[in-house]
This record gives sequence, structure tokens and C-alpha cells, in this order.
Amino acid sequence: MILGIGSDVCSVDRLEQSLTRTPKLSERLFHPNELGLSTKSLAARFAAKEAITKAIGNPAVLTFNEVEIVKNQLGKPSIAFHSKTKDRIDEIGELRFHLSLSHDAGIALATVVVEKSE
Ligand SMILES: CC(C)(COP(=O)(O)OP(=O)(O)OC[C@H]1O[C@@H](n2cnc3c(N)ncnc32)[C@H](O)[C@@H]1OP(=O)(O)O)[C@@H](O)C(=O)NCCC(=O)NCCS
Repeated sequence: MILGIGSDVCSVDRLEQSLTRTPKLSERLFHPNELGLSTKSLAARFAAKEAITKAIGNPAVLTFNEVEIVKNQLGKPSIAFHSKTKDRIDEIGELRFHLSLSHDAGIALATVVVEKSE
């Protein structure tokens, strides 16, 4: 069954300003493997983490830097949970996540669907 859906948008300029103003913010928001990405891709990943939060419905489940957006060899993004966030996700049940990202005109967009096995 579908447990939830989530969507979020993120301004690329606003994220860049926040990351410049608060240098430690990058490490709080992003997994170490994400840190070298372009700002538009970081904005999409931030939007993805907010969208996952909404799809699950509980902001306490995610620690953002323990969530990594990974891509397969064709470029399709998916979600890898690490550390305590992985444990909290596993506690909810057997979940399957679907993720779509986009960025254009200074805005990044993410959509997430979460399925739960019955
Ligand atoms: C819940 C959350 C994702 C909302 O995102 P936001 O950027 O504040 O706001 P947005 O404009 O994107 O979305 C707002 C909508 O989210 C929805 N929303 C709020 N709480 C929600 C929840 N628990 N589950 C699903 N959707 C929720 C609401 O519909 C709201 O719109 P409304 O107020 O008009 O009804 C956000 O407040 C949050 O808690 N993020 C987690 C932050 C965090 O943990 N950061 C960790 C850094 S390490």
C-alpha cells in the first residue's frame, strides 16, 4: 500500500546564500558523498529530504546528513538511509521509496512516494 507522498521545492540561490552564510550547514544537511555536487543538485537533494519527511509524515525520523541520494548507472536517483536514520526507517516497516528530482529556472523540485508492505 502507499504509505504517503511528499513534494518540496528549494530555491537554488537561497540555498547557496544559506550555505555561504553558515559554513557548517552543508555537513548538517548533506551526506559526505553529496558534498561536492553543484548547488542545483544540492538544492534537489535538500528538497528530496524534505519530501521524504512529508511522505513519512514525521520530521523526527530523518537526520538529513544520514540520508544520501544515490544514482544508478543511467542517472536515476534513489535513496540510501544510513546510521540511526536507517534504524528509524526500518522500525516503521518494510518501506519502498520512489524519488523524482528536477531543477530549472532557479528552482529544484523533488517528489517522493513511499510504499509499505502489508
Ligand atoms: C514538515 C516540513 C518538511 C515542512 O516543510 P517546509 O519547508 O517547512 O514547508 P513547505 O512549504 O515545503 O510545506 C508546507 C506544507 O508541508 C505540509 N506538512 C507539514 N507538516 C507535515 C508533516 N508532518 N507531514 C507531511 N506534510 C506536512 C503541510 O501541508 C504544509 O502546508 P500547509 O501549512 O499550507 O498545510 C518541515 O517543516 C520539516 O520539519 N522539515 C524537517 C527539517 C529537519 O529535520 N531538518 C533537519 C536538518 S539536519
